[in-house]
Amino acid sequence: MSNGRDLAREFLEQQRQLGGSPVILPDPLTPSLRPGSVNPPRTAALTPGASPGKTQSAAAGDSPFPPAGISYDPPGGDLFSNDPVPQAPSLDAIAQLVAACTKCRLCEARRHTVPGEGPRDARLVVVGEGPGRVEDETGRPFVGQAGELLTKILAAIELSRDQVFICNVVKCRPPENRVPQYDEIAACVPYLFRQIDLLKPQVILAMGGTAAQTLLNTKQSLGALRNQIHRFRGIPVIVTYHPAALLRNPNWKKPTWDDVRIARRLIA
Ligand code: URA
Ligand code: SF4
Repeated sequence: MSNGRDLAREFLEQQRQLGGSPVILPDPLTPSLRPGSVNPPRTAALTPGASPGKTQSAAAGDSPFPPAGISYDPPGGDLFSNDPVPQAPSLDAIAQLVAACTKCRLCEARRHTVPGEGPRDARLVVVGEGPGRVEDETGRPFVGQAGELLTKILAAIELSRDQVFICNVVKCRPPENRVPQYDEIAACVPYLFRQIDLLKPQVILAMGGTAAQTLLNTKQSLGALRNQIHRFRGIPVIVTYHPAALLRNPNWKKPTWDDVRIARRLIA
């Protein structure tokens, strides 16, 4: 079984073979990433021929970007409602609302809420599924084994953990780490959506099916969602495997590497 250290070494080696550290290519999306832009252009023309679900080869074709995928633009808060979540003024305010939240059954067994953490100016937001045991004990996201691997994956694209905002779809641990249920996700997503609104990152990395399906409002499989540039409220979303899945299945290392390199190229 391969551990996170092997994976990181392999990532770095692949990166070196592919032409040095991080491959920052001209970014056709940049204009749409400027603050204030609404309805950025879709990017369907970027990679003719690339098909969803296929592993993108580094050597393939001229365009470094996969095709446009799903665009999800859920309505924001209603100014006249008295729901504090969509109007929370800061990340700290969200964390406080989460700490007091009893909107779903996951509040019952939690030890700590895990709202997410990272800098206000993070260019990348990583979204996982939900807190695990260590996260529930500490109140911090991705600090267990999967988190160690995430830290290494980020290092391989030259991002340190503290440059990235790391969070989950649900903010309380599901019992036995089961997949969060639909009503739990529905109760919790307003926090995630408001976090993303406040952060306005350049890219969102959705790790695993739960994050991808929630951010894109779809039931499509992770395999079908990979290798496209989706958008959430205009922000590019890259879908990849969850680090916990990678620990179980090393065959997904190479495709994960392809995905995070795409995300890296979208970061200015
Ligand atoms: N898995 C997740 O999805 N999130 C965490 O925070 C830890 C493990
Ligand atoms: Fe509230 Fe989300 Fe925790 Fe459910 S999982 S209690 S909605 S913070």
